[in-house]
Amino acid sequence: MGQNAVITGWGHYVPSRVVTNFDLEKIVDTSDEWITSRTGIKERRYAADGETTSTMSFRAGRMALEKARLRPQDLDLVIVATCSPDFIFPASACMVQDALGADRAGAFDVESACTGFVSALAVARGLIVSGTHQNALVIGAETLSRFLNWKDRSTCVLFADGAGAVVVEASNASVGIESAVLHSEGSKGHMLMIEGGGAKVPATAKSLELGQHFISMQGGEVFKLAVKSMADAAEEAIAAANLRQDDIHLMIPHQANIRIIEGVAKRLHWPMEKVFVNIQKYGNTSAASIPIALSEAAAEGRLRRGDKILLVAFGGGFTWGASVLEWFGEHEPGRPKSIVERASRRVEDLVDRVLPS
Ligand code: COA
Repeated sequence: MGQNAVITGWGHYVPSRVVTNFDLEKIVDTSDEWITSRTGIKERRYAADGETTSTMSFRAGRMALEKARLRPQDLDLVIVATCSPDFIFPASACMVQDALGADRAGAFDVESACTGFVSALAVARGLIVSGTHQNALVIGAETLSRFLNWKDRSTCVLFADGAGAVVVEASNASVGIESAVLHSEGSKGHMLMIEGGGAKVPATAKSLELGQHFISMQGGEVFKLAVKSMADAAEEAIAAANLRQDDIHLMIPHQANIRIIEGVAKRLHWPMEKVFVNIQKYGNTSAASIPIALSEAAAEGRLRRGDKILLVAFGGGFTWGASVLEWFGEHEPGRPKSIVERASRRVEDLVDRVLPS
């Protein structure tokens, strides 16, 4: 049998600026009561000036490398899943590669909105299991606060910023990331999108005036499809791993809305005690939500070696997918510590370095 792909490091970073529902009440026609009861969100984090998807990715990635006790030079792949990259190109992953000093690594971004991390993990797993890559850093990161339409109260209260990361290594262990299923339905792309700024609707004074560079969403339709698709993908990924639902210790769903998460659990007859939820603290951080939740679940001691974990997501595109993995945990302490020297000197000017002088 070939090599398995195993998560050996994890980490996350959220900006320090906390924005509560009460703060939003002051600038939008909304209320803490409405946001809490309809979404489960109490507060979220917004990036500071100068913080971007790549700087937050870097911080989460460094933490994951340190946990894995892997040196940046050991990486041969850096993937950033994001729909709010610093630039259309170069990819945010390239800036992270540079800042970390991951000199041997290929780097690219994956874009499938809130499904991004599950998609990127599937790519990394495939490249590792096939034997072409050995050590991947897989990051989900977003700076969605820069794409909020403050005149649209149904979306601006939902989305926020942050980053989470995992190290995926080739291993001779008999288990690892056991399954990865991905789906899409492109005909419904218009229901959740950023219309402007690309090749179809280039940025112009008119596109700015129309607010086409902001997130727009048909929330009700997204809601219904998200519940069904996530439940279906969860069942498919569990079956593909040759497991039954009872074998899974913890579900880590994309954190879009507590009612979506509860709807998925209800559809699957899945007890909420076996579902990880942190949406109340961070809102919807899209591709970052699952790796942030995974990292927090590990920090809280909710993941033990040998546990089976289900990751499941739905997002713009539409896209959805799920993955089942067996938790490996940390390497034995004998492994030398990772030193990310180059990175710590460079994070502050990470983005400025690629701007024309
Ligand atoms: N504060 C107060 N009222 C608000 C509001 C806000 N922030 N946003 C919308 N409303 C109002 C609407 O204007 C509407 O008022 P009306 O009845 O007078 O017209 C009312 O609340 C109900 O709106 P509706 O859109 O039906 O609410 P909802 O219960 O469907 O909840 C969402 C709206 C956006 C929370 C919900 O549709 C949702 O979560 N959808 C999925 C979104 C998502 O997670 N997307 C990402 C997937 S990855």
